[in-house]
Amino acid sequence: MQHETAEILAAIQAGNTPAEDFAHLKLPESYRAVTVHADEAEMFAGLASRDKDPRRSLHVEDVATPELGPGEAIVAVMASAINYNSVWTSIFEPVSTFSFLKRYGKVSELTRRHDLPYHVIGSDLAGVVLRTGPGVNKWKPGDEVVAHCLSVELEDAEGHDDTMLDPQQRIWGFETNFGGLAHLALVKSNQLMPKPAHLTWEEAASPGLVNSTAYRQLVSKNGAAMKQGDVVLVWGASGGLGSYATQMALNGGAIPVCVVSSPDKAEICRAMGAELIIDRKAEGYKFWKSQTEQDPKEWQRFGARIRELTGGEDPDIVFEHPGRETFGASVYVAKRGGKIVTCASTSGFNHSYDNRYLWMNLKSIIGSHFANYREAWEANRLIDKGMIHPTLSKTYALEATGQAAYDVHQNLHQGKVGVLCLAPREGLGVRDAAKRARLLPAINRFRNV
Ligand SMILES: NC(=O)c1ccc[n+]([C@@H]2O[C@H](COP(=O)([O-])OP(=O)(O)OC[C@H]3O[C@@H](n4cnc5c(N)ncnc54)[C@H](OP(=O)(O)O)[C@@H]3O)[C@@H](O)[C@H]2O)c1
Repeated sequence: MQHETAEILAAIQAGNTPAEDFAHLKLPESYRAVTVHADEAEMFAGLASRDKDPRRSLHVEDVATPELGPGEAIVAVMASAINYNSVWTSIFEPVSTFSFLKRYGKVSELTRRHDLPYHVIGSDLAGVVLRTGPGVNKWKPGDEVVAHCLSVELEDAEGHDDTMLDPQQRIWGFETNFGGLAHLALVKSNQLMPKPAHLTWEEAASPGLVNSTAYRQLVSKNGAAMKQGDVVLVWGASGGLGSYATQMALNGGAIPVCVVSSPDKAEICRAMGAELIIDRKAEGYKFWKSQTEQDPKEWQRFGARIRELTGGEDPDIVFEHPGRETFGASVYVAKRGGKIVTCASTSGFNHSYDNRYLWMNLKSIIGSHFANYREAWEANRLIDKGMIHPTLSKTYALEATGQAAYDVHQNLHQGKVGVLCLAPREGLGVRDAAKRARLLPAINRFRNV
């Protein structure tokens, strides 16, 4: 570790370093970061997605510290987390993220910094503000923060009601450079939110992206606008998004029907408080007969199982993200007038479904993507209030990020997988021990499963 980085870490660990001292800490000229390389974008050509190995494409190396611009902050990253977008970047699917950086680089003189032959990835962080650029008043060096991943320019009117509608909307650390899987990160200051004081660095870093996404998708009026008593079918209910959707359904008085693929995952859903659980593997659903043809009998069998669990009710909301493999079933099982709200296509983005079930039964499909500023803030507030909890199952060292992304790619993980960046070990960063003690069993639900 560089001398300057070691001094930054010492100041953070001291726990009582004044803001002026943080402001006077020297920034290192380079820092340790997880990257992909533009000249390796074709390295997996011809391989099936499953065989593309993030351990080969993700590098941990020193990169130059970026220049700080107006409205921005440089943050010392104590911990980050793996998101599925880290997997997409590492396997260069569906496109190489260098195309995003190139496009962003053309927006202004300042954004040109992002267009580099390497991409520092990562869309979550918990850490400490080191420097703020001109025009930043709300945050100062020394503030303990988490960052959401919405990067917008807001120069056009389209995004002024709902910041996700900004034509220059991007996901930080995926469609921009200088992400969170690193010792330092560059963010826009309006990505910053207070770090929940009862959590460790790695716990605080893990909800961000998926928690905010689940909030918009399920709770917000921009998504499914869930209400008390709604039956919510949650695909991948113990995974990144699903573990937050399940908690939000329970917290909001809805009834989650959790779909998972193993008894361990079913057990985690029970630990969160869910009672209605479907093990899709044990029950052997095969929604596709062949590459081109789905099997409506399997949709019916799945729907009948949901009714058996709910006492005859169909889902008001289907929380969709697996995509091609499940979408036909999702449209079929949703209630008359129900909503299928989708934010992803993990198993393939060309969805097909029988439209008769959609129009005749007045169902609607809603597209949802990340969260606007306000939604991300509300989602973080729920974590801070101890109403929704991190779902961290395992934490890796920065040097082992390739393995962490491999686990998520192969669906070997539960909940969220964390990465320690500057934090030398797990368990640091708690500032409110009493609140933590009260919430500890819920915080640890996903540990050691
Ligand atoms: N648009 C956005 O803003 C946004 C934000 C976050 C994530 N995403 C996307 O959402 C997807 C899920 O992200 P995540 O973080 O939740 O990933 P994750 O942690 O891997 O969880 C996804 C879960 O989905 C289930 N699943 C996977 N393939 C499936 C299939 N073919 N059929 C049924 N279930 C399947 C798995 O659960 P079981 O095996 O237990 O069933 C898995 O645990 C990714 O594609 C990601 O890129 C989009």
